[in-house]
Amino acid sequence: MPLDRGRLEREGYSVAALRAIARRRLPRMVFDFCDGGAEDEITREGNEAAFADWAFVPTPLNGTSARDQSILLFGERLSLPVLIGPTGLSGMLWPEGEVAAARAAAAAGTIYTMSHASTVPIEELAQATSRPLWFQNFMYRDRGVTRSFAERAQAAGYRALVLTIDNQVLGQRERDLRNGFVIPPRVTWRSVADVARALPWALRMARAPITMANYVSETRKDIVSLGVYVAGLLDPTLNWKDVDWLRGLWRGPMLLKGVLHPDEARLAIEHGIDGVVVSNHGGRQLDTALASIRALPAVADAVAGRIPVLLDGGVRRGSHVVKAIAFGATACLIGRPHLWGLALGGEAGVAQVLEIFRRDIDRVLALGGWDGIDRVDRSVLAEGGVADAALAGDLEPRPAGVRRAQSMVAAS
Ligand SMILES: Cc1cc2nc3c(=O)[nH]c(=O)nc-3n(C[C@H](O)[C@H](O)[C@H](O)COP(=O)(O)O)c2cc1C
Repeated sequence: MPLDRGRLEREGYSVAALRAIARRRLPRMVFDFCDGGAEDEITREGNEAAFADWAFVPTPLNGTSARDQSILLFGERLSLPVLIGPTGLSGMLWPEGEVAAARAAAAAGTIYTMSHASTVPIEELAQATSRPLWFQNFMYRDRGVTRSFAERAQAAGYRALVLTIDNQVLGQRERDLRNGFVIPPRVTWRSVADVARALPWALRMARAPITMANYVSETRKDIVSLGVYVAGLLDPTLNWKDVDWLRGLWRGPMLLKGVLHPDEARLAIEHGIDGVVVSNHGGRQLDTALASIRALPAVADAVAGRIPVLLDGGVRRGSHVVKAIAFGATACLIGRPHLWGLALGGEAGVAQVLEIFRRDIDRVLALGGWDGIDRVDRSVLAEGGVADAALAGDLEPRPAGVRRAQSMVAAS
């Protein structure tokens, strides 16, 4: 049984609480497919942990009764600075999961990004919601597939195109290898028992075909043959010429997702790109790649306000969003958090996740004494954890001993 609205609100009071419930209710292999990262999962964990490397320095005497967290992105007003990023096979958590999540995003006044690997087709999702959507694409060996996805998304009215650049070779997700959650799937007693344990999920999904709807053809319909086909399509030779080619095809904002190096962000602007997403794919691709929030300051400096910079990876709290914006991001994307909501309550579950972020951000702004999200900049942060922070606004890294000594001076 999905959680009703009351239980979602009572028990799902944070992203961590929702994740804990989802972990109990989903088959282990489905939970791990969503939750897991590549290899030793150092980047996956680091994404979340690194937000604690900076401490807030509040100024509570600027009290206000209302705090505006809306943002302007590509000419559109969003009511909160949190978008839903692309996640393939969301329909594995809830029948037509992409439709449920897109509707929740629309109701909250934000954007849903459809993954190339959605379980409903591009055109069907566009019909299901009133607000504009974004579409995420890859560069394929067969450029005809990339082109046809871009053309279909354009014709269906998608607002922006996101080219993901960090997934041309698949990362090694070891939880999936352990669980036999691979293509073709390994069916074992353990995997059968795992699904049986999560009976409500199994019943809910029994009549919902899990497929990659955008790739379905006369000869390829089932998830196994589609998976093999798609993995073989990704082109590891992706380069700036390909970016130029796709840029030439797409009318409207185009973003690169997977940017961590400031030089790549600078080049993106030269190549006519309208926005970058600082991202390491949630730690699912290159393990020990830099944590997203660690990469953000240098990318924001390189971009210098010329195009929007977005961030994803480990965003679990409103305080994380406020820190990213203080470093120069326009907004954050969430991946896994919305999947936990989806798994527990479909559209209502995703709505609960977005509401958690909205309330959290409002509370952080109130406690910090900032009357709008546009009021936070680097001066509200101090480098170092809460007990080891350098002076506010001074982001030069220095040895820990010096930082501690300085924070004592600041506190005295
Ligand atoms: C289950 C799952 C599937 C994903 N599928 C895609 C995808 O199809 N395309 C893509 O660009 N990113 C994909 N991502 C990465 C997310 O867009 C995003 O970068 C990442 O989840 C952000 O980190 P977070 O989960 O810590 O919020 C996926 C992530 C997850 C967890």
